[in-house]
Amino acid sequence: MLSAIEIEKITHELQQVPVKKAACIEALKIVQQERRWVSDESVADIAAMLEMSTAEVDSVATFYNLIFRQPVGRHVILLCDSISCYVMGYTVLRQRLHEILLIGYGQTTADERFTLLPNACLGTCDHAPALMIDDDLYRDIQPADLEQILEKYH
Ligand code: FES
Repeated sequence: MLSAIEIEKITHELQQVPVKKAACIEALKIVQQERRWVSDESVADIAAMLEMSTAEVDSVATFYNLIFRQPVGRHVILLCDSISCYVMGYTVLRQRLHEILLIGYGQTTADERFTLLPNACLGTCDHAPALMIDDDLYRDIQPADLEQILEKYH
């Protein structure tokens, strides 16, 4: 069931758009802000509120790779695995992250602090290799920088 805050925020979004469907991605983001991820139940609740089918809402959620359909940690690390980053040291960064966090792709640390995911180009190829943690973009990363970067996130 959507919370009162989620319903209030989604209702506000609905007032900004010409048709209810147009608020779909914002509604997904609102639920994710509150819960870190969007469950099947939340997809169904959003669908009911926006007069869409659950399959339609699910397809929007699936299209946007920053909507998480499974539980994630408090911080999500997106490591770019596209060509420029690959050439500039992606493999070493990935290995170092695995060593520090003791998790692989798609996994969350035991303390729920981090989830590690691969990501297509982050749009900063001239400063490869790159990764994002939540909304923060890190560029020109050296493996030795990783621990200091991760320390900022609790
Ligand atoms: S290839 Fe990594 S930012 Fe473009």
